[in-house]
Amino acid sequence: MGRIIAIDGPSGAGKSTISKLLSERLGYIYIDTGAMYRTAALLALEAGIDLSNGDRVAQLCKSLAFSFRIEGDTVHVTCNGRDVTEAIRTHEMGMHASNVSKNPQVREVLVGLQRKLGGQHDAILEGRDIGTVVFPQATFKFYLDASMEERARRRYRELTEKGEGASLEEVKEAIRKRDINDSTRKTAPLKPAEDAIIIDTTGKDISTVMEEILQHIRKRDSR
Ligand code: DC
Repeated sequence: MGRIIAIDGPSGAGKSTISKLLSERLGYIYIDTGAMYRTAALLALEAGIDLSNGDRVAQLCKSLAFSFRIEGDTVHVTCNGRDVTEAIRTHEMGMHASNVSKNPQVREVLVGLQRKLGGQHDAILEGRDIGTVVFPQATFKFYLDASMEERARRRYRELTEKGEGASLEEVKEAIRKRDINDSTRKTAPLKPAEDAIIIDTTGKDISTVMEEILQHIRKRDSR
């Protein structure tokens, strides 16, 4: 197995931006595990499957093959040959993904795929449970967090840039709900691994957070 960098944390903490940059900087492959839950929700909805039907959603997940390609600022997500990048990045699909991800059978299938994808290369995996469940033996575990206000503002900015019309209050409320959903579920709840390095990104720009992470990596590598 190659080296694994786990980037966990709640939504809007800066995980995607940092993971993409790290992947480019270090030459590791990038796996966006949130995109996998989002795609599972999208395809299940399109197939008319009730999202609370864990058996059926898990069955569907068994037939999925993912690939991720970074192009400029965008991570292109392809599932079974279809580019789902745009379709999964909506406000609603985030909430659907959070609901689908509560199901242990669905998690089992997607975690299996994540281990297979990540186990073959040096890889950066971004998610909620990478350091705790998917790769507890990861070489580096980072847990990014930020204040609710700042996370909501970042998400709001992203959505507005894409022309989605949610208000800041709506975005904040959705993030709050998703936090509760993700951190109180029974299977693999969102929480930092005991040995994770916790980085609060509130008020920090991307280059500051990147430098902090790279310093941790260099420090360990120079031992
Ligand atoms: O990171 P994101 O917003 O794209 O993730 C969407 C949802 O997927 C998130 O609210 C919870 C779920 N998820 C998960 O349960 N485990 C992961 N490793 C990644 C995401």
